Amino acid sequence: MGRVGVAAESESAGLRSRTAGLAHALGLPVTGSDAEAFDALLVVTTQRIELRPVGPKQAGPVYVDFLAGAMRRRLRELASTRQLIARAVGFKGSPLHIVDATAGLGRDAFVLACLGCRVTAVERSPAIAALLADGLERAAGDSVVGPLVERIRLVRGDARDYLADLGEGDQPDVTYIDPMFPHQVKTALVKKEMRLCRLVAGDDLDAGELLRVALTFTRGRVVVKRPPRAPNLLKPPAFCYKGKIVRYDVYPRVAASK
Ligand SMILES: C[S@@+](CC[C@H](N)C(=O)[O-])C[C@H]1O[C@@H](n2cnc3c(N)ncnc32)[C@H](O)[C@@H]1O
Repeated sequence: MGRVGVAAESESAGLRSRTAGLAHALGLPVTGSDAEAFDALLVVTTQRIELRPVGPKQAGPVYVDFLAGAMRRRLRELASTRQLIARAVGFKGSPLHIVDATAGLGRDAFVLACLGCRVTAVERSPAIAALLADGLERAAGDSVVGPLVERIRLVRGDARDYLADLGEGDQPDVTYIDPMFPHQVKTALVKKEMRLCRLVAGDDLDAGELLRVALTFTRGRVVVKRPPRAPNLLKPPAFCYKGKIVRYDVYPRVAASK
């Protein structure tokens, strides 16, 4: 995994103090003239927190923006129960509690929230969780998007521990898993954002173990998002919803042995 530092965009005292606070909370170093020693920087700006790759000829910053125009224009579409993801999680109109065990930049969590679901979004990479927390916070005050992101609760940590620690009454209706795509998948879907996230968060090679844990601690079904031709995670699903760019593998809960 790449080395991540935290930096302020400018020398302003306010930004520097927020940067020090963020670095302390995440257990990451504050960088200055040593920035080149890092693979990516979490940069605190006056508007948001961004993840920026370090080095020449790098792509632009990655950040979470639920208020972006493109997202706003798609709100009606995102709430459509005809989407594959809605069918995969078994959404039939009444709200579900979904654990998004691989929250990342929160795109899928936001779609599920737009459907009306309550989402517990679990993210183990401190840097990625910081981006998501920042995006959720900025969206919270918006009159249209605020009530949607209010349905998302961010939990920082490993979803395997989170699920295993839930009492039986708190288990989610659905656990949703979207691990990093395998390296051999070179579609446009593996966008610059995910390439940078992979650099920071790693390859998710333990995703099969996450599926195993989710199958034990989920009330209803577990849904795994995969590239169309990628091998199954752990075992073949009971059924699958196939799209052009992704497929959703659906696993019913494993019955507890008596
Ligand atoms: C491909 S990204 C998910 C993208 C996300 N679905 C979205 O819409 O933005 C995978 C993310 O899952 C996280 N992750 C992988 N395994 C995890 C686990 N066991 N617990 C918590 N987070 C995990 C990684 O750190 C990474 O940020």
